[in-house]
Amino acid sequence: MTDVTTLGEFIIEKQMDFPGSSGEFSRLLSAIRLASKIVSQQVNKAGLLSNILGAAGNENIQGEQQQKLDVYANDQFIKAITKRKVVCGITSEENDDFLAINNEGSYIIAMDPLDGSSNIDVNVSIGTIFSIYKRISPVGTTVTKEDFLQPGTAQLAAGYVIYGSSTMLVYTTGNGVNGFTYDPGMGVFVLSHPDMKIPQKGKIYSMNEGNFYKSSKGVQEFIKYAQKIDPDTDRPYTGRYIGSLVADFHRNLIKGGLYLYPATTSSPNGKLRLLYECNPLAFIAEQAGGKASTGRGRIMEIMPKELHQRAPYFVGSEDMVNKIEEFIANED
Ligand code: AHG
Ligand code: MN
Ligand code: MN
Repeated sequence: MTDVTTLGEFIIEKQMDFPGSSGEFSRLLSAIRLASKIVSQQVNKAGLLSNILGAAGNENIQGEQQQKLDVYANDQFIKAITKRKVVCGITSEENDDFLAINNEGSYIIAMDPLDGSSNIDVNVSIGTIFSIYKRISPVGTTVTKEDFLQPGTAQLAAGYVIYGSSTMLVYTTGNGVNGFTYDPGMGVFVLSHPDMKIPQKGKIYSMNEGNFYKSSKGVQEFIKYAQKIDPDTDRPYTGRYIGSLVADFHRNLIKGGLYLYPATTSSPNGKLRLLYECNPLAFIAEQAGGKASTGRGRIMEIMPKELHQRAPYFVGSEDMVNKIEEFIANED
């Protein structure tokens, strides 16, 4: 194992990418790495926690109330990030408002601490998503809402952790995408997927097709197109939908494909949240040679107005995103 590159080493090596950051940025990534390990461990024993260890009135050995895993993950990430003192504010899916932490910090973080939480109870892959920006307000002051309302194009870094058959951390700082697999024996993330690239075209489409009739004409036409038999264009495509964005995205990143969560009649802006779901994965997709769209424009160019704002989302292989944009443009 001595010839492997660990995430710790990789972060230090790549610190050169951020001249003048005086190691702050590396400390921030280290905090995320640490919290990921803790959450990964806990996710692996989720079944024990809810059914066995928490059987007596949901209290643990120390007599503390068992927490829902997404609240637990939120706490772990907040604690690890706060301790490193380089972040001035955090916005999380689990908190209505943003948290102002260290005024001296230069960075802000938007995060979905546990994505796909409806899959926890059934032992299906879940994840964590994070997005990092430089603050706009002056260092030394309290972070403001405007610090969080930056477009995705301003992201310095973004990544996700997938708690799957193995735990992986995938991230970008704007110089390509690298994936690290967790070795629980050694307690380290090891570089396993250097310079990840998404195939230009894919064969997989991933949508909650229960929403078919709630979707717009263009989306419906695309789904019919995906299902049509046409050997020349390798159709029908393959339908794959886990219901954990991170897991669906990760599979499509490796194999090629399109993830779509369109606007529906009941969710006119789609379901997924711009700041901590759409933008970070859009940054990764673009850095891997893919594309992320609202169906009518680039996700990362949306000027956010609210912390928990939603957006229709089409992300994955460039040719497939282009194709659905065509269908949506033609519905007018
Ligand atoms: P979260 O668990 O963080 O609330 O996110 C759930 C999201 C996303 O992970 C997933 O792709 C999508 O919701 C699934 O939605 P449907 O159940 O409507 O398909
Ligand atoms: Mn989510
Ligand atoms: Mn979540």
